[in-house]
Amino acid sequence: MKLKKGTILLINGPNLNLLGTREPELYGSVTLADVEAEVAQIVETQGYELNCFQSNHEGGLIDFIQDEGPKALYGIVNLGALTHTSVGLRDALKGVALPFVEVHVSNVHAREAFRHHSYLSEIAQGVIVGLGTLGYSLAAQSITARLQAK
Ligand code: DQA
Repeated sequence: MKLKKGTILLINGPNLNLLGTREPELYGSVTLADVEAEVAQIVETQGYELNCFQSNHEGGLIDFIQDEGPKALYGIVNLGALTHTSVGLRDALKGVALPFVEVHVSNVHAREAFRHHSYLSEIAQGVIVGLGTLGYSLAAQSITARLQAK
């Protein structure tokens, strides 16, 4: 068995379990299972392991970040609506010093004003918005490239 170089977290927040069926004009027809499989393939090809988590609950997301963040190299993070409201999740990510790329499937800047502010962007390594579910794959590619360059 080939030794893994470390773990990358894929963290999705509320309602992202509905990807593929939810408002398809905004979020497309790809499911969360499809996204997780695609991202796993990208990171595993480069020798990393993917740990996926989705929750509709702020506390569950915070617990996961506290438990798994310290053991991981990087995160790909879409906290859904909690992006715009949760100081607790920002503090959790900062608290475990997990470098992460923030992803939004839709272009939040072309939507309602309350979606324009993110509590995460300021502490993210990068932000990908509006590129559909492809954004997750692009985040994974940029992260593995960055880790390999170290
Ligand atoms: C989202 C954008 C958020 O504003 C929204 O609440 C979501 C999904 C996106 O991926 O485009 O649930 O994070």
